[in-house]
Amino acid sequence: MSKEIKQTEGIVCFEQKQIGVIRTPYTDNAPYQPVEEDEGDFRIVVEPQYTDGLYKLDKFRYIYVIYYIHHVKREPSMIVSPPWAGGEKVGMFASRSPVRPNHIGLSIVRIKRIIDNEILTSGLDAFDGTPLLDIKPYINDLDVKSDANYGWIEEMEGHEHLFLHIKGIPHDY
Ligand SMILES: C[S@@+](CC[C@H](N)C(=O)[O-])C[C@H]1O[C@@H](n2cnc3c(N)ncnc32)[C@H](O)[C@@H]1O
Repeated sequence: MSKEIKQTEGIVCFEQKQIGVIRTPYTDNAPYQPVEEDEGDFRIVVEPQYTDGLYKLDKFRYIYVIYYIHHVKREPSMIVSPPWAGGEKVGMFASRSPVRPNHIGLSIVRIKRIIDNEILTSGLDAFDGTPLLDIKPYINDLDVKSDANYGWIEEMEGHEHLFLHIKGIPHDY
């Protein structure tokens, strides 16, 4: 269970456990979002005491990976300009910026194989060594919202093209 550790200026702080580590080929440069077909060794290594918690996880195709974006050095700003959005300004919570009050990252990846305490996955947009906080199955019907939209992104000119950048899809125009 999370332990409440302190309260400063009305803000309650909690302690979380690192339950494993994310291994990727990215040392200091990662895509903006997971690139499913990216090549390389992507794996989630859970601490051995959590191995039994992976029982039957391999029945699912996709998982949510929740992690601590540990190398963020900047203080969060409430208004951000995503690097791919040509100077567009939006609220931090209307963005997927890694610079947030809590450095929580969320990626959906495909399970390729689970071997003991290691989950081999498709491309994952976290730096090598990123601390793992949680894993949950991604479940059709519970998690897929067929009327989801693109928010403020769909108001931008050429947003289909922008999405190729966000998703790291190679293209020559
Ligand atoms: C835009 S964030 C999105 C993360 C996640 N998919 C999400 O939506 O919460 C992805 C970026 O975070 C940065 N990043 C990834 N792992 C990091 C880490 N451990 N520390 C600091 N920055 C990291 C990389 O620059 C990467 O391009």
